[in-house]
Amino acid sequence: MATVSLEDVRKVYRGGVAAVKGVSLDIADGEFISLVGPSGCGKSTTLNLIAGLEELSGGTLRIDGAVVNDLSPRERDIAMVFQSYALYPHLDVARNLAFPLKVAGLAREDIDARVREVAALLGLDALLSRKPKELSGGQRQRVALGRALVRRPKVFLFDEPLSNLDAALRTQMRGEIKKLHEQLGATFIYVTHDQAEAMTLSDRVVVMNQGEVQQVAPPRELYDAPANLFVAGFFGAPRINLVKPGTLGQPEADVVLGLRPEHLEVGQGEAPPGALEGRVYLVEPMGAESWVTVESAGERLVARAAGDFRVPTGAAVWLRYDASKLRRFDAKSGRAL
Ligand SMILES: Nc1ncnc2c1ncn2[C@@H]1O[C@H](COP(=O)(O)OP(=O)(O)O)[C@@H](O)[C@H]1O
Ligand SMILES: [Mg+2]
Repeated sequence: MATVSLEDVRKVYRGGVAAVKGVSLDIADGEFISLVGPSGCGKSTTLNLIAGLEELSGGTLRIDGAVVNDLSPRERDIAMVFQSYALYPHLDVARNLAFPLKVAGLAREDIDARVREVAALLGLDALLSRKPKELSGGQRQRVALGRALVRRPKVFLFDEPLSNLDAALRTQMRGEIKKLHEQLGATFIYVTHDQAEAMTLSDRVVVMNQGEVQQVAPPRELYDAPANLFVAGFFGAPRINLVKPGTLGQPEADVVLGLRPEHLEVGQGEAPPGALEGRVYLVEPMGAESWVTVESAGERLVARAAGDFRVPTGAAVWLRYDASKLRRFDAKSGRAL
């Protein structure tokens, strides 16, 4: 187990693409930390720098306090799980799991014991003699996970490991990865573009955009107190409502207001005091709740309503919000005020 620390870490690719522009981060021993952000924001590059698969253009990387800038991936004692499983097609599951240990020169009995242990942990016992082509996508990804686990590394790195799975399986594997982290107590660094994955899995989330860290915080804090408009807009489905103060009857100029859909109440009939008036633009039933888009004062606001909310498009409705829940952002810089 290990701490990982990044100090002003930079990567400029050949041709001058600045992919990572000075990232500083202290990851605690046993922490589950996610790097999240849109495609191309530098997540994989940051992870590859930690793994030693890419060379640093600047900054310092430490694992357990020791500088590892010039160490090979092998010497860093980390394991990486990618989106593509990259299993050996001609080897069965047991041999795929054993492979990294064979390369490391472990004794036969030790290899067998570790393979059995990891197979039990991941529910692969019954599949040990199957070839990768005889496995489902989820089972293959579990084997890839197992191949990282057998080595018992200090740090696990994951790069979008669930992206190739269908939605139901993704949710299931997400839960399994979280349980695995609880059981192992190892340091997990997890890259994803999926805000829900980052929120549900992590102790802390690192939000990146264009090679720069936007905010580092526990999921709840990111959601409740986003540092800027980018972070506010990235987390939450439906998205936070971002509106001019005039729309909500607030006086300030040069300020953008953020209001989460669950803090906006929509209703029909006589409007309560202080409510806004509007018309239903769209109702999206989601089962347990409905997302209701309302047009008011020329802007569209989304409210979270009950699952059985049924009002026709164009119907007059009122909107009420809790002013204490408003987040205020500087319209120019985007920073939270
Ligand atoms: N080998 C490379 N050579 C040049 N540019 C690269 C290379 N790998 C990634 N990039 C660029 O660096 C930026 C960050 O990429 P990446 O770290 O893969 O983003 P993410 O994983 O967040 O989608 C992108 O603009 C990408 O095009
Ligand atoms: Mg990537």
